[in-house]
Amino acid sequence: MLNFWTNLKKPFFVLAPMDDVTDIVFRDVVEKVSPPDVFFTEFVSIEGLSSPGRERVIRRLHRNKNSNIPLVAQIWGRNLDFYYKAAKDIAQMGFDGIDINMGCPEKGIVARGFCGGLIGQYSEVADIINATKKGAGNLPVSVKTRLGIDHLITEDWFSFLLKQELSAISIHARTVREMSKVPARWEEISKVVQLRNKLSSKTLIIGNGDVSTYAEGIELSSKTGVDGVMIGRGIFKDIFIFDPNVKEHSPLEMINILLFHLDRYEKEGDYKSFQILKKFFKIYVNNWEGASALRIELMDTNSIEEVRNLLSSKSF
Ligand SMILES: Cc1cc2nc3c(=O)[nH]c(=O)nc-3n(C[C@H](O)[C@H](O)[C@H](O)COP(=O)(O)O)c2cc1C
Repeated sequence: MLNFWTNLKKPFFVLAPMDDVTDIVFRDVVEKVSPPDVFFTEFVSIEGLSSPGRERVIRRLHRNKNSNIPLVAQIWGRNLDFYYKAAKDIAQMGFDGIDINMGCPEKGIVARGFCGGLIGQYSEVADIINATKKGAGNLPVSVKTRLGIDHLITEDWFSFLLKQELSAISIHARTVREMSKVPARWEEISKVVQLRNKLSSKTLIIGNGDVSTYAEGIELSSKTGVDGVMIGRGIFKDIFIFDPNVKEHSPLEMINILLFHLDRYEKEGDYKSFQILKKFFKIYVNNWEGASALRIELMDTNSIEEVRNLLSSKSF
């Protein structure tokens, strides 16, 4: 099987994994509107995949078989057998890669040694990567992580990770404790690129944190030498963020994208609650005269039908 990472033109752009955001529905919307080079799923619990609740958890791994964008399944957990099993399952589901989450800062999760709590746990992490690779077969394995837990350990942590023969490492340039409260430290990402070059490692480096336009991503990649740029929250400010050509988009165009989003959500069945769907509305109804009044009305709706009725009562 081909390692898709090695075929990407640099710098490539990645939509960051986001819980309750980058699901099958939203990925379809982004692919239609301004596709990135790589998608990630939301993070998926390997413990959940091996539990009686598997059927519910596995919905996070639903994917559109007609998509043309490489899709990486992101997993998190602790148990080595579950990493192996989850990777084996994912390899059979037609994903393009598997990513291990070593960055989520949620306190309870970190305290139990999961996700961001794995940072600096060298021997455990080596075992986790090996178990995942064993299950993954030919699928490329990558890691998404941060710069440390409560202080920067950039040099030690990434020297170690770069020796694990990963296909890619995505670096959210803050510590776990910093959550998203301080500006991303792209200068630390530069150091990792230099480390990678010094070690002659083939691992691709993806920079992440606070990128709010495509042009900014290009500038940061040429400044730091990263192979790819990952964008998360920026998509909420501009759904066209992966389009290199900045254009104006009319309210009607935005409303049509919202309607497409609703159609895709409906087709997926009772996948996520209507309340979760509502948080996407601000992407489409924003920055034009009357947008904030309409957004308030949209927030009062309780069903897709109500949203459609409201929108059809307006002219754009
Ligand atoms: C709502 C939300 C959900 C997230 N869920 C995940 C996740 O499931 N896995 C992960 O690795 N990171 C997750 N993140 C972190 C993002 O992938 C990214 O690292 C972070 O938002 C910084 O990038 P940005 O400044 O471009 O948003 C999440 C972030 C947000 C805002």
